[in-house]
Amino acid sequence: MRIAVVIGSTRPGRKGEAVGRWVAEQATARVQAGEAAEGVEYELVDLAGFDLPLLSEPTVPGAANGQYENPATAAWARTIAPFDGYLFVTAEYNHSIPAAFKNAFDVLFVEWRHKAIGFVGYGAANGVRAVEHWRAVVANASMLQARNQAGVNVFTAFSPDGTFTAPEELVTTLRTTLGELEELTALAASRRA
Ligand SMILES: Cc1cc2nc3c(=O)[nH]c(=O)nc-3n(C[C@H](O)[C@H](O)[C@H](O)COP(=O)(O)O)c2cc1C
Repeated sequence: MRIAVVIGSTRPGRKGEAVGRWVAEQATARVQAGEAAEGVEYELVDLAGFDLPLLSEPTVPGAANGQYENPATAAWARTIAPFDGYLFVTAEYNHSIPAAFKNAFDVLFVEWRHKAIGFVGYGAANGVRAVEHWRAVVANASMLQARNQAGVNVFTAFSPDGTFTAPEELVTTLRTTLGELEELTALAASRRA
């Protein structure tokens, strides 16, 4: 079972890359320590590398059945499709989901459908409102979502020079979230079989 840790912020100077890389390292360490569910592998996917245009497909994604005309959308779909589960590392912009990340979700459909998802939010208020909005969004793709979530306060976790240091409770909440996501990923895979 493959789970993607998805860095969803694309902004120059973003904090999301440091958070996402740390999360992916923790997830990989969990596998190496034998703490993860049997057969689970984690990989980092960085949305910033895809330069996705805004909703450029003429066919509604839910009807496209994985066939996309724009090469950037097709490359994004090829990256996302093989995974069984996703951990979205999401910023909060104006109390909601960053537009580029929402667009990256919207341009695909079958790739997400009936799979599992968990969330790590970050922001001034730990990204909780963005995660709450994500929960309503991913429901449309019939995704199994982990109730547990992790959150990062950017004011306390980042020092003035931009160094990220994870607080102890983040280690704990991430572990709980990953455990639930791994269970749901297996469950979702068995439902799709
Ligand atoms: C356009 C914009 C809107 C923001 N709105 C919020 C907000 O509503 N709530 C919040 O907690 N933080 C907000 N922030 C602060 C971000 O959570 C913080 O800057 C975070 O580092 C953004 O993620 P990024 O650095 O990966 O882009 C906002 C930041 C930006 C750029």
